[in-house]
Amino acid sequence: MLLAGELYINGEWKKSKSGQTIEITSPYLYEPIGNVQAITQKEVDEAIDFAQAAQKEWAQTSLQQRASHLYKWADALLANQEKIATVIMHEVGKSLKDAKSEVTRTADFIRYTVEEALHMHGESMRGDSFPGGSKSKVAIVERVPLGVVLAISPFNYPVNLAASKLAPALIAGNAVIFKPATQGALSGTKMIEALHQAGFPKGLVNLVTGKGSVIGDYLVEHKGINMISFTGGTDTGLHLAKKSAMVPLVLELGGKDPGIVRQDADLQEAAKQIISGAFSYSGQRCTAIKRVLVHESVADELVALLKGEIEQLVVGSPENGSTIVPLIDDKSANFVQGLIDDAVNKGAVVVTGNQRKQNLIHPTLLDHVTEEMRLAWEEPFGPALPIIRVSSDEQVIAIANASEFGLQASIFTKDIDKAFAIANQIEAGAVQINGRTERGPDHFPFIGTKGSGMGAQGIRKSIESMTREKVTVLNLAL
Ligand code: G3H
Repeated sequence: MLLAGELYINGEWKKSKSGQTIEITSPYLYEPIGNVQAITQKEVDEAIDFAQAAQKEWAQTSLQQRASHLYKWADALLANQEKIATVIMHEVGKSLKDAKSEVTRTADFIRYTVEEALHMHGESMRGDSFPGGSKSKVAIVERVPLGVVLAISPFNYPVNLAASKLAPALIAGNAVIFKPATQGALSGTKMIEALHQAGFPKGLVNLVTGKGSVIGDYLVEHKGINMISFTGGTDTGLHLAKKSAMVPLVLELGGKDPGIVRQDADLQEAAKQIISGAFSYSGQRCTAIKRVLVHESVADELVALLKGEIEQLVVGSPENGSTIVPLIDDKSANFVQGLIDDAVNKGAVVVTGNQRKQNLIHPTLLDHVTEEMRLAWEEPFGPALPIIRVSSDEQVIAIANASEFGLQASIFTKDIDKAFAIANQIEAGAVQINGRTERGPDHFPFIGTKGSGMGAQGIRKSIESMTREKVTVLNLAL
């Protein structure tokens, strides 16, 4: 059955006056599964007007009132977990098990966000701690909402990475304009259906779907938007940063996370972590391990272990619980294949993989990758993992930091002092010691540097980024 996505504006589901829709095709069923509305700019204006009006009242409600709506939303997501997960699977080709965990993780995220906000308090300051100041001045410093938050989510976590913007925005007293990636918009719609059941005030959350060429820049430059939270590709993030003027911005972009394997690492454990880090959901994660920098003295052994692990990965349809699933579209698969071909043409050795059927790329391990090859630097967002052999920690740090990206890095070693010494010099938002690169647990700060983003996410950080401090000063007659 085809899913007919609708806009959600002022608490009502409606078709766009444009009369146009965008067809959504499943990346593995290879057939249309539904469509979403192509909104007009005028309808975007209306959605933002409704959001502005609703936000003013919402900001006046108590935290406990807001919390009760968010808890109901989390409950509704779980009550509809199977249905939502099935849409995620059909739309973005994620296994049902992973899609279900995405829904559970989202409900957990929403609840933790509420609890964090309930325990965030402002501060007060007396004037007399500054030279010449007086005890009669008391500053009350509180966090206040920013207004209307534009939340733009990517295809790979169409529910979780949407809710991880909506939940902190809402609990903090903001309204939201939610623009999902088009491939992912049906899943996003299901998430909003659950939110609708939670009885939030009309107009507080509005779902807009449409063509990037019509509404992309229009939304970002819109005077009614007070904050933008974006997850997606680095090129789009850069464009967005140029277009948005004087609007607070949080960007979570791409990565080229290195898995660094020292000569003293537990190689079996490192191999397991690297495989899980690199190949879950076919590597379509910003935090995937996207290159291995291994000491030459243990490289042969590690490569053999990785090959053994890769050959056990289930490849195929997400309906069979496969780890390696067809990529989101043919264009993405062509890009990954181009990176593999470039490396092979320049002398990289295919250890396993390099097989392709349409947009399904088998997990591919390439050894003896050098700095001249594109795969050493570019982000595949697919199942192609380069092995770069190194001879020292200094070389590891130099290659790790030569990347345009700086999301995360993993260091595998039994020498905790060395691990810290290397971690201190790696230019990344987070360094994992003896573990795979990943965003969670979701209350940890999640940060990208360089081409990987700006600002910070993670539950508390997201609430902070969607609020600002406001100071009220009491001048007492003491
Ligand atoms: O794709 C970007 C996500 O933030 C990665 O999240 O590490 O939980 O897969 P994850």
